[in-house]
Amino acid sequence: METVLVVGATGNIGVSAVKATLRSKRRVLAIVRNQDSADKLVKHIGSSEGITFVEANILSDSGVRGVVDQVRAGKLPSFQHVYSCVGGEYTTTPLKDITTSQLRHNMNASFESNFFAYRDTIGYLLEQNYPASTWTSCTGSQGDIATHPVPAMTQGALFSMATAACRENTATNVRFNEVYLAFRVEVDEVAAQNGTTSASDFASVYEEILARPEIRSSRVRVDSRGDLKNLKTAFRRHGQLDDLPGSNLRGWASGLYDTIWVRVMNNRAKATFRITLILKTITWRRAEAEATQSTPPPTPV
Ligand SMILES: NC(=O)c1ccc[n+]([C@@H]2O[C@H](COP(=O)([O-])OP(=O)(O)OC[C@H]3O[C@@H](n4cnc5c(N)ncnc54)[C@H](OP(=O)(O)O)[C@@H]3O)[C@@H](O)[C@H]2O)c1
Repeated sequence: METVLVVGATGNIGVSAVKATLRSKRRVLAIVRNQDSADKLVKHIGSSEGITFVEANILSDSGVRGVVDQVRAGKLPSFQHVYSCVGGEYTTTPLKDITTSQLRHNMNASFESNFFAYRDTIGYLLEQNYPASTWTSCTGSQGDIATHPVPAMTQGALFSMATAACRENTATNVRFNEVYLAFRVEVDEVAAQNGTTSASDFASVYEEILARPEIRSSRVRVDSRGDLKNLKTAFRRHGQLDDLPGSNLRGWASGLYDTIWVRVMNNRAKATFRITLILKTITWRRAEAEATQSTPPPTPV
């Protein structure tokens, strides 16, 4: 059975990732900061069945690495998928009032932690070479509208990281995808009070990503509740967005195109490399021969 490593598992998005994982008959490896956080997650899910907990400081640059080390040592279950959704403050503090410590804390909690999670798990997934691996990141439209400058700036950095990861994994065994969320999702009890979307409903997005191999190197836009099931994917081919709203067929066709493109480019690169090597060898041999002819014979002593 596959396992999803969830980083930020106890938050609004993390709870939805855990729900999606369990609903899709997979197991969860949840990184939590302490026992209270683990208890909070069990309360939201209603049971601890299918969940392995591990405590680590995900804000430090060695927290996730330490977890991966334990997986490699066989002390924790191996994982085939990662969902990272660590977050900091959701505040409207205007730019001029953001203190240095507030800025640094939030860049650490909302950006660095997700970067560390990527950097320190992707090598493991590539090494395992499991053909259906995925890596999912959750970003928000705050990065574009910036009514909440603190979280907005962290999302801007995450956008760039996602673009690079989409490109770097176009041809790997890992389907990297960014979920771009444009409305508020909260754990079920809070969502019911606030009239926002529940983690349970939002879980359908991750279920779809796990289930559909054609969704890779994409931004999955969730602009309205209608997008929770009918995913809008936008390929980030060669670092550019190529919008493909809604259509499964177009998404599938574009996925196929991308795979073929990468294979062709890889083969072309290999062929070009061989031709270049042959030409260079001929040039070197000629240069060597000319050098030998033009060099006067050594003077006998
Ligand atoms: N919720 C949304 O509607 C929404 C919309 C768009 C984008 N997003 C993005 O999704 C991400 C997660 O959002 P969210 O609403 O799920 O946030 P959240 O509910 O505040 O959850 C944040 C997660 O990060 C963990 N975390 C934060 N600080 C930590 C620390 N110092 N040490 C250890 N763990 C820490 C929390 O653990 P604890 O439970 O132990 O505190 C929790 O698991 C953010 O990047 C956010 O911008 C969310």
